[in-house]
Amino acid sequence: MMILVTGATGNIGSQLVTALTQAGQQVRALVRDPKAVTMPPGVQLVTGDLNQPDSLADALVGVRGVFLLPGYADMPGLLARIRQAGVQRVVLLTSGSAAQADMNNAVSRFMALSERAAREADVPWTFLRPRAFMSNALRWLPQLRTGDLVRVPFAGVAAAAIDPADIAAVAALALTSDGYEGRIYELTGPDSLLPADQIAVLAKVLGRDLRCEGLPNEEARAQMEASMPVEYVDAFFSFYVDGTLDESQVLPTVQEVTGHPPRTFEQWAETHADAFR
Ligand SMILES: NC(=O)c1ccc[n+]([C@@H]2O[C@H](COP(=O)([O-])OP(=O)(O)OC[C@H]3O[C@@H](n4cnc5c(N)ncnc54)[C@H](OP(=O)(O)O)[C@@H]3O)[C@@H](O)[C@H]2O)c1
Repeated sequence: MMILVTGATGNIGSQLVTALTQAGQQVRALVRDPKAVTMPPGVQLVTGDLNQPDSLADALVGVRGVFLLPGYADMPGLLARIRQAGVQRVVLLTSGSAAQADMNNAVSRFMALSERAAREADVPWTFLRPRAFMSNALRWLPQLRTGDLVRVPFAGVAAAAIDPADIAAVAALALTSDGYEGRIYELTGPDSLLPADQIAVLAKVLGRDLRCEGLPNEEARAQMEASMPVEYVDAFFSFYVDGTLDESQVLPTVQEVTGHPPRTFEQWAETHADAFR
């Protein structure tokens, strides 16, 4: 059966393409710019824009399963296209904030509305709600290139961050095995860590004397507003400064679904150490 992976160049999608290919599945990778992409042998490349559901017509031909990212311009239109194509399974990535369905919080809202679109599309769905990704540590790369001090927003907020490879492992099972339909999986890593804890692990793995310092909230806000719409900055401040989202609880889901414990931040850092060098 052909599986369409959206976000195929991203943290989750790229790992999912690999996991599905290794499991012997037929995989089609949706990308926006095929010239900029290399995929494992045998993977079909197809061009499309998730903000324009009609652009996915070719991508969906013959597809039985779709791994879908949330939050694009017309999720109901996208899901309608997917249903019309006869897709049997949609595995939708959202996040823990989908459960809150807080329409005053831009992130919670787009996650919840993406889930709602899938529920209302009359297509078999599975929702994956991961906590913060371990790959968010790659945001520290520019600082690590210039020195050993890493200044971070929300320094007092712990999260049971998850390795994208574990999210991909759960997605691969949900796309290729029975029993996942209509279910929601809250996915965490094995430990609840502060940014300073993660930086201490990175220091050990990289053999560097790294230090972590919290950014004052005003400075954090200014930096974030330079890279994302202000409504998202407000959403993250609501989560992490007002404390409306707690991502610190460690859950057994990855172990239960995959049969192996979730990967630690140290394992993630060792796997991605070259990116930091
Ligand atoms: N970071 C976290 O802690 C966290 C936690 C929970 C949930 N999430 C959610 O996870 C999702 C994916 O995360 P990620 O880390 O895998 O993302 P990522 O590495 O930033 O990758 C995003 C992917 O989406 C593709 N893409 C972006 N806009 C597109 C469009 N209009 N049409 C088609 N493809 C498009 C990108 O392709 P190109 O190569 O074309 O750019 C890329 O492959 C996000 O939606 C985020 O909200 C993140």
